[in-house]
Amino acid sequence: MKIVKIDKTLVDKFINITSMSAIACHKHIGKNDKIIADKAATDNMRENLNKLDINGKVVIGEGELDDAPMLYIGEKLGTGKGPFLDIAVDPLEGTNFAAQNLPGALSVMAIALKGNLFNAPETYMDKLAVGKDVPKDATDLDFSIEKNIKNIAESKNKNINQITACLLNRPRHKEIINKLRNLNVNLKLISDGDVSGALLVTDKKYKVDIFLGIGGGPEGVLAASALDAFDCKFQGRFLFKTDKDIFRAKEMGISDLNKKYELHEIVKGDSVFCATGITTGDLVNGVKIIDKNFITETLVTHKNTSINIVKKEVPIT
Ligand code: FBP
Repeated sequence: MKIVKIDKTLVDKFINITSMSAIACHKHIGKNDKIIADKAATDNMRENLNKLDINGKVVIGEGELDDAPMLYIGEKLGTGKGPFLDIAVDPLEGTNFAAQNLPGALSVMAIALKGNLFNAPETYMDKLAVGKDVPKDATDLDFSIEKNIKNIAESKNKNINQITACLLNRPRHKEIINKLRNLNVNLKLISDGDVSGALLVTDKKYKVDIFLGIGGGPEGVLAASALDAFDCKFQGRFLFKTDKDIFRAKEMGISDLNKKYELHEIVKGDSVFCATGITTGDLVNGVKIIDKNFITETLVTHKNTSINIVKKEVPIT
């Protein structure tokens, strides 16, 4: 069977799009206004996506969880002349980071061929991610915390007190955090930004053995598309709490509300993930000004093709 791939020339254009969106957000860093920062990144991303020769459709938009300006789910993008693509966007991932000039704000996008990226509702998701050095069946969202940690330790030939778990620091995670502390697991508690959090399992240099806990569903889909290129494990289960959530999920064709999704049910086939730093974080540097240029850094993964950090220089106009 012929494998249909996303054209390399388009990949370069996607890198430009998250880079330009990060630059548009840059002047709002530290200005204590996350809505304006998000709007600047979003407007710029929409404008540039609409210039591309693609038949794009937003399958993951942003907005409802934090009332941000939207690139809404179902929105058509591009000139309508090129390939049919599903697009997941988070023009400003870590709105607090940008507004407060804290590390880790990113402009993020994931792209797959039409029908290959999960159409996710704006709700929470219970997530688990581990690196490719852990056998795929060693961890599971349905295992106890103890079993997951013990299996990771065994597969890495480490003691449990040498294992590090990353999760959002939220009251809803009190029980998990207590269990991890009782096991003597090292914790990396993040205040926001669980796309980055999940990606810390991709490389030993980040010293994170498991990412887990509840965060945004859209962020879960975005992280999954990058984790796929790194051959890591990701599982997610949406949490539908309100009647509105349940109604929207059913509208999107989700009949089993408790389904645990494996990575390859979330993203299929070829995909591209781009995350450009707005403020410097674990994964990439933020936007810098050197002489008369903006310098951006983008983590870009193209499934089975390449994983790179790409620098761009854009003249300040
Ligand atoms: P925003 O960029 O929309 O502010 O999201 C930041 C974030 O930390 C995400 O990375 C995460 O998935 C979500 O918020 C968690 O939601 P909550 O803050 O409600 O726990």
